[in-house]
Amino acid sequence: MTLRLRPTMLSDLDWVVSVERDGANLPFITPWERTQHEGAIRFPDSRHFIVEGGDQPDRIGFVILQGCRNPNGSVELKRLVLQAKGRGLGRAAVRQLKALAFTQLKAHRFWLDVKALNTRAQRLYESEGFVEEGRLRESVRVTVDGADGYDSLIVMSLLDREYQARVALGQEAL
Ligand SMILES: CC(C)(COP(=O)(O)OP(=O)(O)OC[C@H]1O[C@@H](n2cnc3c(N)ncnc32)[C@H](O)[C@@H]1OP(=O)(O)O)[C@@H](O)C(=O)NCCC(=O)NCCS
Repeated sequence: MTLRLRPTMLSDLDWVVSVERDGANLPFITPWERTQHEGAIRFPDSRHFIVEGGDQPDRIGFVILQGCRNPNGSVELKRLVLQAKGRGLGRAAVRQLKALAFTQLKAHRFWLDVKALNTRAQRLYESEGFVEEGRLRESVRVTVDGADGYDSLIVMSLLDREYQARVALGQEAL
């Protein structure tokens, strides 16, 4: 399926907020208030996108980038949520986002953090060239099987030269 990224509109936000709170996504993210999403739509340093797939303009997910005007070229993949999981759409989205970050936004570094319990997302990012930088130990509260505790955040990044090497090897085909 071909994925398209289009700017999120205020009229999408009810849907975005409901997707964030969906039990299939909530364990892996820290949901935002609607006003935080509004801020990300309006603030020039952020980009808020709806992911569409197929022939119809159906919403299948959303993405938030931050640091798009960062003077150090350090662009953050703040959030990626796709409703249909395990069908290769995450990989396709990450490839498009890397191309956007390094080609359009001229990023030097594209980075993210991911919860240690989120092995699915970690495998995806690792296999798309992201390198672990370190762990923020026990930095987020989580509830696993009804028990409260903490999880660590794994910080990962890809540098522009690493991305260009992947392009040269044909590993970034869209
Ligand atoms: C994380 C997410 C974006 C990945 O998208 P996806 O479409 O499910 O992933 P893909 O189908 O493209 O799979 C990519 C890779 O992830 C890994 N993966 C996928 N499903 C997996 C699972 N159930 N368990 C472990 N690894 C898995 C595999 O390595 C897979 O590559 P492969 O199919 O070549 O083996 C999506 O699952 C999602 O929105 N999850 C909830 C929110 C979230 O975790 N966001 C990221 C926060 S950092």
